[in-house]
Amino acid sequence: MRECATRAALDAALEPRRRAGKRIGFVPTMGALHEGHLTLVRQARANCDLVVASIFVNPTQFGPGEDFNRYPREEEADRRLLESAGCDLLFLPSVEEIYPSGQQTRVEVEPLGSELCGAFRPGHFRGVATVVAILLHQVAPQLLFLGLKDRQQFILLRRMVRDLSMPVEVRGVATVREADGLAMSSRNRYLDARARHQATGLYRALQSASSSWRAGVRDVAFLEAVGREILHDAGIERIDYVAVRDVEHLAPLQGSEEDGLMLIAAHVGQARLIDNMRLSGVAE
Ligand code: PAJ
Repeated sequence: MRECATRAALDAALEPRRRAGKRIGFVPTMGALHEGHLTLVRQARANCDLVVASIFVNPTQFGPGEDFNRYPREEEADRRLLESAGCDLLFLPSVEEIYPSGQQTRVEVEPLGSELCGAFRPGHFRGVATVVAILLHQVAPQLLFLGLKDRQQFILLRRMVRDLSMPVEVRGVATVREADGLAMSSRNRYLDARARHQATGLYRALQSASSSWRAGVRDVAFLEAVGREILHDAGIERIDYVAVRDVEHLAPLQGSEEDGLMLIAAHVGQARLIDNMRLSGVAE
C-alpha cells in the first residue's frame, strides 16, 4: 500500500493509473477503522482497479464542544487494516493540505443539511459536504463508497454529487453490526460497560419499528413514540430524535409508501450514537 500526504504526491501516484484507464474507487474516512470501514474498502476492491482510502479527521464538521480533540487517532493500526482489506493507496492529508490559508468556499446542501442531525449539529453537514467535495476533486474517483449507517450523510452527499454534476457514482454499503446489533462506529470506543449495554436499545427500537411496519402499522407518531419508549427503557435519556422518514430523500411520509426509514440519534454515556433501518426489512 502506498501512502501520500500531499495533493501533489497523490496526483503523481494517480496520474499514470488514470491515463491507463484504471477505475478508481474512493473510501473517505476519519480513521479509527473498524469492520464497517473495511467492508467499504472490500466493496471498492471488488468493483474497481485501484482503491484509494483517506484518513482525515475533518475539523470543519465538528461543532464547538464536540469530540474533535478526543476523536480516536490510530494511524498504525489503521494502516495495517487498510492494507489487509486491499487498499492500494492511503491519502493522509494535513489540515493545511485540505484547507490552505485563504480558503473561503463552503458547500451547503439545504434544507437537508439542517434537518435531523443537522438540527442538533449546526454546520456539521456543511463541513462534511465541503471536505468530501475537496477530496473528490483531489482523488477524482469513478466510484465513491459510503456507509448507509450514516444515512443522512449518504443521501446528502448523493444530492451534492447530482446537484454539482460531479462525475462520480455514489455507492451505499449496508451497515455492519456487532453480534448484538449495535452498529459499528469509531465512537463506540467511548462507551463504558454500562453504556455499551444501554446502546443495544437503538437496534431494539429499530427492529421493533420494523416488525410493526411489516405487520401493517403506518402511524408514524405511534412508531416514533414506541421507539422513544424502548430507548428510555434501555436507560437512554438524552434522545436527539427518533424519526420515520422516506427512504430516498428523508422527506416526511405521505402514508402510501411501501417502505420507510427509522432514524435515531441519542447520547449514550460519553458517545452520541446514530443508527437507522429500512422498515420493510429489505436487504440493502
Ligand atoms: P467515518 O465516520 O470515519 O466513516 C467513514 C465511512 O464509513 C462513512 O461512509 C461511514 O458511513 C462508513 N461507516 C461507518 N460505520 C459503518 C458501519 N457500521 N457500517 C457501514 N459503514 C460504516 O463518515 C465519516 O467518517 C466522515 O463524515 C467523512 C465522510 C469521512 C467526511 O469527513
